[in-house]
Formats: sequence, structure tokens, C-alpha cells
Amino acid sequence: MIIKGIKGVKDLLPEEAPRWRFIEEKARQWATTFGFQEIRVPIFEVTTLFARSIGASTDIVEKEMYTFPDRDGTSLTLRPEGTAGTVRAYIEHNRAADPLPQKYFYIGPMFRHERPQAGRLRQFHQFGVESFGMADPRADVETMALLWQLLSDLQLPALTFEINNLGYTSDREAYKPVLVEYLQRQVDHLCANCQRRMITNPLRVLDCKVPECRAATEAAPKLAESMSEKARVYFDAVLKGLDALGIPYHLNHRLVRGLDYYCLTTFEVTTTSLGAQNAVGAGGRYDGLVETLGGPPTPAVGFAVGIERISMMLPDSQVPPSVGQKTVYVAAFGEQGAASGFTVLQDLRRAGIRAVVDFRSGTLKAHLRQADRWQCRHALILGDDEVTKGLAILRNMETKAQVDIPLSSVVASITPLL
Ligand code: HAM
Repeated sequence: MIIKGIKGVKDLLPEEAPRWRFIEEKARQWATTFGFQEIRVPIFEVTTLFARSIGASTDIVEKEMYTFPDRDGTSLTLRPEGTAGTVRAYIEHNRAADPLPQKYFYIGPMFRHERPQAGRLRQFHQFGVESFGMADPRADVETMALLWQLLSDLQLPALTFEINNLGYTSDREAYKPVLVEYLQRQVDHLCANCQRRMITNPLRVLDCKVPECRAATEAAPKLAESMSEKARVYFDAVLKGLDALGIPYHLNHRLVRGLDYYCLTTFEVTTTSLGAQNAVGAGGRYDGLVETLGGPPTPAVGFAVGIERISMMLPDSQVPPSVGQKTVYVAAFGEQGAASGFTVLQDLRRAGIRAVVDFRSGTLKAHLRQADRWQCRHALILGDDEVTKGLAILRNMETKAQVDIPLSSVVASITPLL
């Protein structure tokens, strides 16, 4: 029986790798430009880390985590996102004692047991950033500006920056009974999931995509109406900052994220070009999380984008042309030619020149056909006759022009000609 890959878990084949590399390089470049440093945290952690940070009654923790017992019985989980692990590392390495702010970025795989469809996978990849130590609206704006800069630079189509104010915990606590009272009156119009969430996580009902639920919550009292002055002032400053930097946004009072750690500013970049999975990236402020996980009170803000989704949206014209162009094909044949070519191949590579060969080819014709197929710009021809004369022939595969190269100094002689 042929063993197949797991549903919702994709291979990244060589043809697609340059797109990913391009996206990752842009992400690294912009993150560094904005003063973020790379952190690499483990792919699995103890389960309680995620349950406590993301929230026990969220979809992620309730039904999407890959959780398994370690050999000693400890419950472990493949990370469904990057914030929890980054916060854990921040606390564990006592980074709060170092000069603040501490700003990190990460790129790597995340795991969620969701129903796979285009743009929704069980192993997917995120680029994310987390900024610790600044309770300043400009830190929110800086983080959003990085997200916007990256997505704009990649020229992704049809983006909208949605933003909402979730206020402080006390604001949400004051709002919840008001909302629940309204929802109870609408209960017959809510989907089964929302009927349950009405009890466990009522704000999430506002974010439900089911049309009946949306209609039923259209007239719901808004969180903004019970927002404290302090939260209002903070959010206004964030919006002013976005205005000052010319970042366009759309206020969306329904935006309630699927992770419980957020407060104040929350945002999501959506697109109309991806079908149902319309979120390219999302994030927000999470001032309470470091403390919840046992660290000192630390304001924080961050976001993550899905690399698969960006890759689906990235125009082909954006990806720089890949390999082939500057490659030398070593067309060595005949007994002595092949032997000499084998060491020349290594000399070229050691000098940093990209060199390839198909060892199965035994004739010049077969070699040149392969060089063409691989779109190599040059072939270095080396048969028994050439070895006897102490040279090789460098052939430009496009113009067919050929020059003799002394075998005693192949690398030095061909370097200026490539
Ligand atoms: P999130 O909204 O759960 O936030 O995920 C962020 C992004 O990851 C989504 O907008 C989407 O592009 C991508 N994504 C999520 N699930 C999948 C999936 N199953 N398949 C493909 N892509 C997916 C977080 O994860 C937060 N940790 C973001 C954050 C960082 N907040 C503060 N700091």
C-alpha cells in the first residue's frame, strides 16, 4: 500500500519553494527594519500553556489542538499559534529584566485540526511578531504599520484592514450581561454553535459567519457603547496614529478574535481574493497574557500572517526568476573526460559557482540536451580529446559561442565569463 501524506498537511515542492523564500525574506527584512529580532520557539509545549493563554472555551482549544500524552503521561500539544510559546520563552528567560521593549518575530509551522479547504490547512505556517513592554498606542500602530508594509510590498490584491476596540477586561465584563440578555431574546435565530457560545464565550457570537446569526445580531448593543473613557481615549490615539501614517482602515465592531488574550486594539487584514478563508493576518494587544502565564505585568501587542494564504495571493510577477540562469552544466564524457569533469565539478562548487551534471548521460549530445532542459546558461565540455589537450570548452547555451579554458585554471578562467 502506498503511504500518503496526512489530510490538510501539504508538501512544499521545489517549484513553489522560491515563492515561499521570497515571502519569508520580505518578512524578515521588514521585521528587522522595524526593529524586531528573530526568535525560534519549540513546535510543541505542555498543553496547559495553550489552554491558559488562548482560552479554554475557544474553538482552538476546544476542538482544534493536536494533543497527545508524552511517555511519562504529560499532556503535550503541537503549537496552534506562536504567541503563547513566545510569551512562555519571554518569561522563562527573564527577558523582562533586559532593556525593554523586547520585539521578536518568528516564522514556522503551526497545527490546527480544522476542516481542510483552500487556504485552510492542518499544518500551516505563520510569520508573526510580538512586541513586549510598551503600553503606548504608537506600539500598536508600529505593529500594524509593519503588517501593512509587508502586505503592500508584496502587492497582495484587495486588502482591507479591519480594526476594533475590545477595551479592557472590565469593559468586556460590563458588556457581557448586556449582550447575553439581547442574545437570549434571539436564541431561536442563532446556530447551534452560537447557542453554546452564548454561554461560554458570548462575544464570539458577534463574529459568527452564519447569515442567520449575523442578521440576529445586527441590532445587538455594541461594546463601544459600554466602553470606558480610558479605553476610548487609547483607541482614538491608535486611529490617529494610523491616520498619521496614511494606513487605511475599516472599523468593524463585530471583530472579536478567536483567541481570548486580546484587549483594546484588535485587527485583521482580510481580502476578497481568497474565498471563504478571507483572513490574511490578524493580531492585537494582549496586555494581560504575560502576567496570566506567571510573568510580570507586561503590555504587549503582535500579529501573525498565514504564509500559505499570502502565497496563494502573491502575483507571479512579484516572484523573482529562479535558478538556471547562472548555472554551469559540466558536460564531461569518455573515460578520462568523465574522471576529470568529476573533480572540476567539485572545484567549481567549492568556489561557489553553481554547477550541475546528470551522471546518467554518457554522450555530449545527451549532456547538452540536459543542459538545455535545466536552462543552464553555460556548459563546460570535457571529453577525452580535451583532456589530452589540457583544456575544456565553455559553451554559451544561448549564443552557442565557445571558448577554450585551460584545465589547470578552470575556476579562475571561467569566473569572469559567467
Ligand atoms: P490567528 O488569527 O489565529 O492569530 O492566525 C493568524 C493567521 O494565521 C490567520 O489570519 C491566517 O492567515 C493564518 N491561519 C490561521 N489558521 C490557519 C489554517 N488552519 N490554515 C492556514 N492559515 C491559517 C494568531 O494565531 C495569533 N497568535 C496572532 C497574534 C500574534 N496575535 C498577537 N500576536
